Amino acid sequence: MYQKPNKRLTGQTAIVTGANSGIGKAIATSIGRDGANVIINYITDPEAAEEVANDICDDKICGQAIPFKCDVTKEDEVQAMFKKAVDHFGTVDIVVPNAGIQKDYPLHEMPLDAWQQVIDVNLTGQFLCAREGIREFLRRGMRPEVSAALGKIITISSVHEKIPWAGHANYAASKGAIVMLMQTITQEYGPMKVRANSIAPGAIKTPINREAWETPEALNKLNELIPYNRIGEPSDIGSAAAWLASDESDYINGSTIFIDGGMTCYPGFTENG
Ligand code: BGC
Repeated sequence: MYQKPNKRLTGQTAIVTGANSGIGKAIATSIGRDGANVIINYITDPEAAEEVANDICDDKICGQAIPFKCDVTKEDEVQAMFKKAVDHFGTVDIVVPNAGIQKDYPLHEMPLDAWQQVIDVNLTGQFLCAREGIREFLRRGMRPEVSAALGKIITISSVHEKIPWAGHANYAASKGAIVMLMQTITQEYGPMKVRANSIAPGAIKTPINREAWETPEALNKLNELIPYNRIGEPSDIGSAAAWLASDESDYINGSTIFIDGGMTCYPGFTENG
């Protein structure tokens, strides 16, 4: 889906984690296309991160983008990433802690390691990025010439903050926690004009859920869970994230926006229950 370039984020800087592929790539591209500078965080595949950054920089209306390798579970690495953003671009205005993983097991077979890694990336990683973002927002102070908010945090959740998911207890628990992290940030820092919201994607066509869409049979089965009857595209999330980062959504604070084709409307109840 083509997004018309829009200058609503010009003069701002965003950090998007896990931005070398899938949803993170789409978010970084949309935000860059709306004029923001972007740190393209990655942990593997530096060439892909470089490519995302080049695509943003090549388009003359866009902001500047630089790839930055960092493991979001490591405090010192996250701090180094924020320092890079401040040294290079002056400050950080938008934080999208998108990096996430799945390590699926039936609960009774789930090794502690698989539980811990998912909690570390999906929850602790978002906490560390949100914390560093808020520290930078408070240090820098308001910039009314670029935004009505002191800063914007867009946590990336999932329909599984609401829909239980057998065989994925670690993932569902990590996403269930994100809503409380995000809303507590809203309650605690809203008075300082920090705006925090979540995006909760449904089934989006990315490498994380390849098995669910790569064959026609799998895709048909998946579509039974989606009233709108199509899998989501990363750009469905990217365009919403850019809007949520902009002042056009200035009064949205503490909300989770489900972008799922209606998955959270439980289509299994259409002819049952
Ligand atoms: C998961 C995907 C899954 C989707 C809908 C996402 O949060 O990462 O693997 O397809 O939720 O179940």
